[in-house]
Amino acid sequence: MDAQVVISDFEASHHAEVYSLAKKAWYHAYSDFLDEGTLNTRLNCWYSRESHEGMAWNVKNRGYFFKVLHDANRRLIGFISGNTRTGVLDRLYLDPAELGKGYGSRLLELFLGELKANGIAECRACCDRKNRLGLEFYRRKGFRIIEENGEDYALAKAVE
Ligand SMILES: CC(C)(COP(=O)(O)OP(=O)(O)OC[C@H]1O[C@@H](n2cnc3c(N)ncnc32)[C@H](O)[C@@H]1OP(=O)(O)O)[C@@H](O)C(=O)NCCC(=O)NCCS
Repeated sequence: MDAQVVISDFEASHHAEVYSLAKKAWYHAYSDFLDEGTLNTRLNCWYSRESHEGMAWNVKNRGYFFKVLHDANRRLIGFISGNTRTGVLDRLYLDPAELGKGYGSRLLELFLGELKANGIAECRACCDRKNRLGLEFYRRKGFRIIEENGEDYALAKAVE
């Protein structure tokens, strides 16, 4: 793990870089099973400026968990978001060029640490059934599949 990385709270000013990293990560992880039209429609909706402005407000005022990870050159290489009151992990994405270096684990540990501090017993996440990268990551991190919801699996892990 590079000691020079910086993890900070998401702000609306991160919108463009988060959008473009999400696009890169989505194409890498999902283009085998989602067509380009579907990818772009979902990206443009879920990662819109308006959506990010709302999320930044929630980070600042409601304790919503959304962290961005920059390298020593201030290049965004990953992000994570979720609700530390319900235990639901919403998003976790790394730059495809930075996979396997422990950054995903580090971001997940931060989220789990917040859950533990809040007395939340379980962390839950959703992952597309066809997302082998994501499913393998969650399996190695101790998540188990608890439900099948359409194209997704719902996963859960006890917070220790
Ligand atoms: C899932 C993801 C966040 C993992 O991030 P990462 O930084 O590569 O993960 P880490 O380097 O911390 O590795 C975590 C574990 O997964 C394993 N792993 C990482 N990449 C792997 C791969 N391609 N194949 C198999 N195992 C892999 C590591 O060996 C490690 O296992 P360990 O903790 O038992 O040693 C990243 O692959 C990603 O952005 N995927 C696309 C988006 C996604 O699937 N998000 C989650 C679901 S929404």
